[in-house]
Amino acid sequence: MKEKIFIVEDDPAMRLGMTHFLKSHGYDITACENGIEALNIIESETFDIAIFDLKLPGVDGLKLLQAMKKKAPNTAVIIITAFAEIKTAVQAIKEGAFDYIAKPFSNEELLLIIERCSKFRRLELEVEYLRKSVKEKEIFEGLIGISNAMREIFDKIRVIAKTDVPVLIQGDSGTGKELIADAIQRLSTRKDSPYIKINCVAIPETLFESELFGYEKGAFTGATETKKGKLEIANGGTIFFDEIGDMPLSLQAKLLRVIEDGIVYRLGGKEPIVVNLRFIYASCKNIKELIKAEKFREDLFYRINVVPITIPPLKERREDIPVLIEHFLEYFAQKYNKSKIQISPSAYEALLSYDYPGNVRELKHAIERGVILSKEGILDLKHLPEEISALSTIELNCINNNISLKECLENFEKNIIIRTLKECDGKKIEAAKKLGISRKALWEKIKAYKIEE
Ligand SMILES: Nc1ncnc2c1ncn2[C@@H]1O[C@H](COP(=O)(O)OP(=O)(O)OP(=O)(O)O)[C@@H](O)[C@H]1O
Ligand SMILES: [Mg+2]
Repeated sequence: MKEKIFIVEDDPAMRLGMTHFLKSHGYDITACENGIEALNIIESETFDIAIFDLKLPGVDGLKLLQAMKKKAPNTAVIIITAFAEIKTAVQAIKEGAFDYIAKPFSNEELLLIIERCSKFRRLELEVEYLRKSVKEKEIFEGLIGISNAMREIFDKIRVIAKTDVPVLIQGDSGTGKELIADAIQRLSTRKDSPYIKINCVAIPETLFESELFGYEKGAFTGATETKKGKLEIANGGTIFFDEIGDMPLSLQAKLLRVIEDGIVYRLGGKEPIVVNLRFIYASCKNIKELIKAEKFREDLFYRINVVPITIPPLKERREDIPVLIEHFLEYFAQKYNKSKIQISPSAYEALLSYDYPGNVRELKHAIERGVILSKEGILDLKHLPEEISALSTIELNCINNNISLKECLENFEKNIIIRTLKECDGKKIEAAKKLGISRKALWEKIKAYKIEE
């Protein structure tokens, strides 16, 4: 079937002539004679192409064009004009009409413009489809990634989201653990039920138990009324324990019991409360090591580690860096109302070669800052944080021959030391080990390069 076309023309001879001619060429035609009726049809039907006469009784062609662009922006509109109305026709094009055709015109001229319009539309739809499918492949529930590691994680999420199995998400800080927990919740059958997040680092040990289990009035001094705990509030939904590795040992035993029995007792309460929960956990600490250090219960670990998801650090999946850059660039340009921003080659090079100890979060912040500081649509090396731009600045300086090789190497060494110290939170013993030099050597270099604490 050829395109579906909507004709609005008040001159009966023209309307009938066009309808007859286009039908004989296989088009599916709907025709009407006045603007008000046309508005109703626009609201209730969809078309590939619309042909509006400019002068109509009631509502004119320009108004119909506006209504069509609002209701069905993908419908291509052709405007029929008399010679004297060319100015208005130009206005119509500005407002999104595909083209105009001036009276009087032959059937062949009409066919030509419709065929051109059909071809253009098909191309346009194809481009939109391709663009969409590329984007969909890169974005999964707000998560960007094209590396094999991320694709495997997306597949795993698709499979497990619909089940109730416990998930343990592990990965360094800023790798997207919370984003993954959110994706699992959103794709699950519990998406409209409570979703409670508990950050095990943020709650002081003394308050933790009452936060989780709630308490009865009079359970302890200060318990002036009965309060539900997070486990009870999350009943029927999902509970996310973030940084589970930091949960105090005493509470780990109590959590284990809830997982095994599905029963909660409020502090000071005797009534068992049955809870139905889906558990998601995240940790940036290696839990196996915590078990060795006797900071985490082994029996709890087996209970939470049913489906492990491990996100590699960004530097181990570098293919994701360009797509993340692209995504954040577009996102922040829009957020800060900046028109299209281009990254200069040196800035791009620096962004691609950096190691991102802070992972995606660090990349995201770097782009945000870069977008804010960018000038005249260019994000340059100088708009990036020093730790990202440092190494390539040195290389550029060397290439520019402004400084001697010795000076270059010294700068290089200084920057490596600063970066390593930062990565080790200023701990010199650790930094020296990482750099493969003695503590004394490191100390001397810090002094020589006047590196501040
Ligand atoms: N794959 C990704 N795609 C898009 N944004 C991401 C991705 N991974 C992380 N982010 C973004 O990076 C930031 C950090 O993510 P998130 O808070 O989920 O990390 P985390 O692993 O929980 O970190 P932490 O251990 O510090 O809590 C967020 O702003 C998040 O939107
Ligand atoms: Mg987190």
